[in-house]
Amino acid sequence: MKYYYLLFLLGSVTGFLKLPLGSPFSLKNSEYKHKISTDHLSESDKAIVQEISGVYGLIGPDSDIYDVENLYQLFTGNGIIQGCFFDKGEVTFVNHYVRTEKLLYEEQCGPVLKHKYLYPLFFLLNHFQWLPNVMGFANTALVKMGNKRYALYERDVPYEIFFDFDNKSITTGQKQHNHGLKFFSAHPAIYHDRVETIQYNVFRKTVSFLQLTTDLVVKNTIETQMTYLPVIHDFISTRYNYIVFDSPLAFRFSDIFVKKIPISLMENKPTFIRIVNKFTGRVRTFEIPKGVYVFHFAQVYEDEHVIRILAPCYDVLDFSTVDILGKFRMLVLDKVSGIVSIKKHDRLENLNLDFPVRYEDMIILRNIDDRVCNGFVICRDLEIVHEIVFFRRFVCGEPRVIYLKGSPYLIFFTFNLHSIREQSNIVVLNLRDFTHFDLPLDFAIQYGFHSFFFT
Ligand SMILES: [Fe+2]
Repeated sequence: MKYYYLLFLLGSVTGFLKLPLGSPFSLKNSEYKHKISTDHLSESDKAIVQEISGVYGLIGPDSDIYDVENLYQLFTGNGIIQGCFFDKGEVTFVNHYVRTEKLLYEEQCGPVLKHKYLYPLFFLLNHFQWLPNVMGFANTALVKMGNKRYALYERDVPYEIFFDFDNKSITTGQKQHNHGLKFFSAHPAIYHDRVETIQYNVFRKTVSFLQLTTDLVVKNTIETQMTYLPVIHDFISTRYNYIVFDSPLAFRFSDIFVKKIPISLMENKPTFIRIVNKFTGRVRTFEIPKGVYVFHFAQVYEDEHVIRILAPCYDVLDFSTVDILGKFRMLVLDKVSGIVSIKKHDRLENLNLDFPVRYEDMIILRNIDDRVCNGFVICRDLEIVHEIVFFRRFVCGEPRVIYLKGSPYLIFFTFNLHSIREQSNIVVLNLRDFTHFDLPLDFAIQYGFHSFFFT
């Protein structure tokens, strides 16, 4: 009898145990494709659209930004890709849910996220390959490595994503089950002949730096011990070194019944900056006396005397809220004295910036004002070069810089606040004179994380 029951459980869900978690569902009806009208544009703006050739898009969680109460909720939505194909003046909007193992499983067995207290069991079953990785959301970044494109999430391995430029469609390919690869950063360092990434172990408090071929075959691994809980979103790769911030994050067991996600930054504990030699694995540590967390590094400069790091820095971070404040600063690591100095700019200390995008010798950062991402701030080092502010509009994620006939343009999605997301647009903004035009979408755009532009 018990064998019969086991056979029933094994079911047909791609080899996983078929647990009755909820009602089956299909996301097919939530995916759209439609042409975007350009009829309202002036002849000069039509000429700009005619010049754009490729697909701009965002990848992000399928969470409604207004319903999200904490960072964990934001980071654990299923990955959705929203893109606009530009082809000889025609613009086509497409969205696609990344068909992760988790999502395919949920479509048959019901959502797993509703069963948070069963997570330890889910992790155990995943360890024995009886369940998919329930932390595999593929929602953070979409990048090209070699000739292929992949959706990335730091607690899973990459999923290949196919873009059909003729039929204007996006589909999910295979998960990359490569030897030695357990997790993959959403911010790998990508070169023409190799890829570098990190994977961290929160139980052993270690970070591994991996060198791979562009086909994602692991060639070399260096492991480094951390002091704190190593939830590391981004890392730096210079010619000789890997650099990571060992920030004083802690899981507070005392808050487990008070907060939804009891992980926060210990503000009065020191932050260690680990400089790991790529060739020897030797580690040099710099210290900042206070807690600092960095999601994204904007720019790094290293010579024999100094390392300068530009990044939005968080002095306070609590994963049980979404109200976080990124202050754009420069950290100067003096290799001779071993001292770290932090340079600040008064105006930048009063802004909430992150998602840095490099462009020429400048950095474009998205600005959040009173929970609304209302535009961008362009900086050269810590000098503000220009501010782009939209009235009653929400910018939905990272923009992208593209060049048309030698001129830089910023391309991004927005929705209008007064119409409660009824009107979404794709916006093309000239980075020389800051004029812009909108292409209205027939679809309410979702908040996204990182952007892509593929040709
Ligand atoms: Fe990121």
